[in-house]
Amino acid sequence: MMDQLESVRKQFLADLESFPENSKEIEDFRSKYLGRKGSVASLFTLMGKATSEERPTLGKELNKLKQDLTRQFEERVSTYLVAHQKGEDDSIDLTLPGKTPRIGSLHILEQTLSEIKDIFKSIGFHVAYGPEVDDDYHNFSALNIPEHHPARDMQDTFFIDPTTVLRTHTSNVQIHLMEDEDPPIRYIVPGRVYRNEAIGYKSYCLFHQVEGIYINEKVSFAELKGCLEYFVRQMFGPKIKMRFRPSYFPFTEPSAEVDMWDEERQQWMEILGCGMVDPAVLENVGYDSKKWHGYAFGMGVERIAMLKYKINDIRLFYNGDIRFLEQFS
Ligand code: PHE
Repeated sequence: MMDQLESVRKQFLADLESFPENSKEIEDFRSKYLGRKGSVASLFTLMGKATSEERPTLGKELNKLKQDLTRQFEERVSTYLVAHQKGEDDSIDLTLPGKTPRIGSLHILEQTLSEIKDIFKSIGFHVAYGPEVDDDYHNFSALNIPEHHPARDMQDTFFIDPTTVLRTHTSNVQIHLMEDEDPPIRYIVPGRVYRNEAIGYKSYCLFHQVEGIYINEKVSFAELKGCLEYFVRQMFGPKIKMRFRPSYFPFTEPSAEVDMWDEERQQWMEILGCGMVDPAVLENVGYDSKKWHGYAFGMGVERIAMLKYKINDIRLFYNGDIRFLEQFS
């Protein structure tokens, strides 16, 4: 029985090779195979002769054959129709210029991020990522930010529940990386962070940071300065004005911030915080703080892009205005 199915299929395929070129012959072709009295329909009479064991498989095969042949026939017909239409219909002007496809481009923040990554990769940093929703411990406690610290205040932090937060900085990943790996380590960590702050031209409820962390046996503040100076010169060119300003973070000691001169506004703009990793943080992750030392930094990607590309409002990154985005494609 299966042989009979196969021979109909073979014949159909052979006929398909010389598919007719006019509608009358096409109709004949159709009724020969797929019509009410066509070869496929007559194969269905085999069902009557099949044993009850054979019947289910035979039924399946018959239906499959019918679908297959119908599909192939229809494909051929539509190719025929398209070819015919073109030849006969001279209302189509083939000399008209085509439609230019619109080409997308990377968002300016994504471009800035990849510039930042490339600079740090060129001096030995690996790239890592970490969670945006994290527990209180990784975002705060492990970083030496005790429970009563103002940074934990509802003012700054979006809470998911009393002990889960949208991370307020990428520093949470410092802890994850050190928990997972033994020193020495050298990473940058790009990612989104969230803060419940007053929105203004340079602050938004979400923004991006790139965290850096380097832990080794001998690491000095001079190296931190050298590394960040190198980064800034690569990013903005040799003439840029920057300054280190002493600062305070619970997880670094000593700490500093880097400001860059904002030509547009004629004032300093803070772009990053940094410092030597506090021994208490190293102990929290089980590193021996007598042996291992390191530095860390966290920079604001939007602010860097604002300075580099003279963008005067952080909200422009997020409202998807094509007129803004197109300037950077
Ligand atoms: N996490 C700090 C912030 O968001 C920046 C920072 C990172 C400071 C690493 C020191 C070391 O402001």
